[in-house]
Formats: sequence, structure tokens, C-alpha cells
Amino acid sequence: MTEGKAMIDKLLQTRDLRDEELEALLLTDAYDGELARSADTVRQSVYGKDVYIRGLIEFSNYCKNDCLYCGIRQGNSAVKRYRLSCEQILSCCGEGYGLGFRTFVLQGGEDPYYDDAMMCAIVSRIKAEFSDCAVTLSIGERPRESYQALFDAGADRYLLRHETADREHYRRLHPESMSLDNRKECLWNLKEIGYQVGAGFMVGSPYQTISNIVSDIRFLQALRPDMIGIGPYITHRQTPFRDFPSGSLELTLRILSVIRLMFPYALIPATTALGTIAPGGRELGLARGANVVMPNLSPVGVRKLYELYQDKICTGEEAAECRYCLDRRVTSAGYAIAVHRGDVKREREAVVPV
Ligand code: 5AD
Ligand code: FES
Repeated sequence: MTEGKAMIDKLLQTRDLRDEELEALLLTDAYDGELARSADTVRQSVYGKDVYIRGLIEFSNYCKNDCLYCGIRQGNSAVKRYRLSCEQILSCCGEGYGLGFRTFVLQGGEDPYYDDAMMCAIVSRIKAEFSDCAVTLSIGERPRESYQALFDAGADRYLLRHETADREHYRRLHPESMSLDNRKECLWNLKEIGYQVGAGFMVGSPYQTISNIVSDIRFLQALRPDMIGIGPYITHRQTPFRDFPSGSLELTLRILSVIRLMFPYALIPATTALGTIAPGGRELGLARGANVVMPNLSPVGVRKLYELYQDKICTGEEAAECRYCLDRRVTSAGYAIAVHRGDVKREREAVVPV
């Protein structure tokens, strides 16, 4: 027991552990209570009880890629494809604004239909109509000039999970046409341009090992992203990975706590995937170090079509229902939703945890 306690103390003091220590901490449930308490203390010392909300607008389920784990991969011919128009996206934002959202996340598959001119027009119209709101993009890998144009059009943040930092593992999850080097380069470009950047990975994806997870953590330490998205891998029956099991709730929660201890200032979502693998999963995520939730603002008619993984929650609810449901859930977990943009706090602004 003391060994685990000593590792957690070391994490608190140095925000780092050796590879063997990290692996040991991730492989046992013996210290989960202590980890959870420490993660929550650190989270509260920086963000208090605040939970930041982001309205997620899934605007296209067309994708030119074929990631083996993903339900909307190009090769899945069973998916009914849809695209939202600029007007439809703006109307989602309007509804979200009324519900207290001050960040809109535009997420889609890698869909060339939304070229730079179109995406920039969407971003600048949102920024013009909702000037006190942040716009986050989650539209995959693009050339640096494209990221620059979107930033110049007003985009504030960008989410691009690295998915796995291990080259061999990356190969097993993606087709030949994709590369880890390109993914990483995109993340560095986004950061250099000035976006608040989010990276992250799935827990329990096929072939993932504990040492892969340590590599993911090392990559995050090098990149120092503002946002870190970590959720369980969930099987989708229409992908080549249909026979692989979903990731574990416990391991995901343990990783969330470790990540919070290493990155006290990061914005860490309690993901929809976490709420999908276990009832109350998002509440557990909040208690273990997460401080963001990203409910769905997409029109109800398309929600079931944006199925990255099966049995996704919140696909039948109207935006308002989801918002109030979430309010209850966040309150029941002992936290409170904050109505503002919810930008990342930087080191110098925050109180240093004990
Ligand atoms: N299970 C869980 N998460 C998934 N994602 C894609 N497919 C799945 C799946 N089957 C995640 C990826 C991607 C994010 C938008 O959704 O990490 O970056
Ligand atoms: Fe969407 Fe509960 S958060 S229905």
C-alpha cells in the first residue's frame, strides 16, 4: 500500500513517474481510492467545482478515411450519410446559446466537401453571431495552411486525438494511407498557429498494451496540450474490429486520474463514450479528475447516424433535454456547470496545488 501511496505523492510533487512506476500504478486497482482523492484535490485547486460545457455539433458523417475502429469509416457502406448546411449549424448554435453554451464544437468525419472556403465561412458566421463564444474544430488532418486559414477566420480551439503514440500500434488501427508522423505534425502545427489544442487516445483499443499507454502519456508530456480527450474504445459491429471487446471503465478512470495529476491545468472531458460503457460513467469521470462535458447539440434526426461506436447515449434526446439531464448529473456528482467560454487556465493564473 505504501508503495502506491509513495508513487501518488511523487506524482503530486513532480507530476511525473518512471515508466515502470506508471505501469505498476495503471495495472492495479489497489490505489484507485487514493488516486481519485488526489486527482479531485488537484482538479479543485485549479478549477474548483466548475464543470465546463461544450455543445457538440456533429455536422457531417462522411469520411474519406478508413480507421479500423470507427463506425463512420468510409468502408462502412451500411451508414446513411448526411451533411448539415451552414444554416443548420447556425441554428444548432442558436439553440445551444439559449441553453447556456458558450463553446461550440464542430465535429465531422474528414469530409472534403467542407473545403477551406466553406469551413471558414461557417466559422466566421458563428463568431459574428455569437461573439462571446469559442469555436472548437474537430475535423481531422488538414494542411497547415488550412489550419491557419481557419484560425484566421476565428476558430479558437482544435481537437485531434493522436489515437496512439506507438508506431506499430498506430499501423494496426489505421490504413496504410494514414501515418502517425502526419498526425503528430498536424498537432504541432495547430499549436504553433496558436490554437488551444486537444490530443488524446482511446483506452482498450485493439492490440493496445500498457506500454502503449505509457507512450501516449509521454507524447502528451511532450506536446503539453490544453485539452486531453480520453475515453474507452467501444466496439462497432460494422467495423473490422467487431470481435474485439470494448475497453474497461476502471482502466479509463485510473488513467483520467493519473492524467489529472500530471496535467493539473488541462481541460479533460468526461466523454460520451465513458457514459456509454457504464451508467453514470461521466459522473465517475468527473469524480476522478475530468472537468468538461460535451453534450450533443446535433439535430435529433441525424444523431443516430453519427455512430462512431455502438449504443451511443443521448441520441434520442433533444438538446434541451440533454442539457437539463446533464445539469442533474453534474449536480449529483457534487459539481456545477459554468456558463462561460471555459478557456484553459494557464499555470501562472492558477493556485499551485499542495
Ligand atoms: N470507440 C470509442 N471511441 C472512438 N472514436 C472513434 N471510434 C471509436 C470507437 N469505436 C474516437 C476517436 C476519435 C474520436 C472523435 O472518437 O478517438 O478521435
Ligand atoms: Fe444527454 Fe442525459 S446527458 S440525455
